[in-house]
Amino acid sequence: MDWLREEFVRVEGCTALDAFGGTGAVSHLLSQLGWDVTYNDAFQFNTISARALFSPAKMQLSVADVASILRAIQPHPGFIHATFADLYFTDEENAWLDGFMVALAHVEPACKDLLLHCLFQACLKKRPYNLFHRANLKLRQSQVEVQFGNRTTWEKSFAEHILSTFEEVQQMQPSLGSNIRVTAGGAAEDIAPGYDFVYIDPPYFKRARATESYLSRYHFLEGLARYEEWPLLLDAGDRLRRIQTSTINEWTDKTALIKNIEALIQKHSKAKFALSYVSGEYPSEEELFALFSDNFSHVHLSRRAYGRALSKQKFCDLLLIGEP
Ligand SMILES: C[S@@+](CC[C@H](N)C(=O)[O-])C[C@H]1O[C@@H](n2cnc3c(N)ncnc32)[C@H](O)[C@@H]1O
Repeated sequence: MDWLREEFVRVEGCTALDAFGGTGAVSHLLSQLGWDVTYNDAFQFNTISARALFSPAKMQLSVADVASILRAIQPHPGFIHATFADLYFTDEENAWLDGFMVALAHVEPACKDLLLHCLFQACLKKRPYNLFHRANLKLRQSQVEVQFGNRTTWEKSFAEHILSTFEEVQQMQPSLGSNIRVTAGGAAEDIAPGYDFVYIDPPYFKRARATESYLSRYHFLEGLARYEEWPLLLDAGDRLRRIQTSTINEWTDKTALIKNIEALIQKHSKAKFALSYVSGEYPSEEELFALFSDNFSHVHLSRRAYGRALSKQKFCDLLLIGEP
């Protein structure tokens, strides 16, 4: 973030689009730098979290309100309990999640987003690797010593995690700018032009092997975000009960990445354009630099080394900024 801040302060303009917004961290940074920001992401769970964090009607709930909502939740064996047995959470936890979703139906929309955001974070914290790409419930329950993650965190209740996330959000909320608009959520390629600055941070693809899609990693959160339609979204033949890939416009085709980025650049032809990517994977730094050189009269390339949680490997991030 410090690195992006150093690079972004040199870019001039008023309106910025964060087209692959994810957690919203970069939207937040751009907003701190004074930009009028539009946040977008293909997933509803990310869109809901962004709305919860950035919408002006933010904190209508107190810690006491949330504690009281959580105390009133009754486990209710419903869709999650019937569909995801022995996969991601225990039977009791699944019934609690169904009960939470039933209770949420009676909460007003602005508060619903915030409670869902806290629920998504709770679900991630209770998962080994913080993901849903494998079942891994047995791993959580086994007696063997774990090399990563933390049994105490996995075994804390959803309610405890929800409350602590809510307190974190409450603390940071005053620093969150109100100059961030959140789209309804959808494919970056469908957003109309008109921004001074477009920032894209698309999914990264491994050079040597297939890359797990965001849908495969986070399908359970997307299901919670679309709870009513979840039964219809399921991929019937999938052992992990994931959502069908056709329901999300995620960029998953590695061979189409260059073409997809170029189409975005050409659509936003009047904008300054920045791309974040990882170095040493697919496409290469040279290919990305050539793409920018072909499309912009001025190109700036910057690199930064960094480490990742759960990995000993060192990575290098790239930032390319093109000006028409
Ligand atoms: C590398 S992450 C972005 C991380 C983000 N910069 C942050 O700070 O958290 C890529 C994001 O692109 C989203 N995504 C994938 N395909 C998309 C598409 N076609 N349109 C919009 N978003 C997409 C994914 O959901 C994911 O959140």
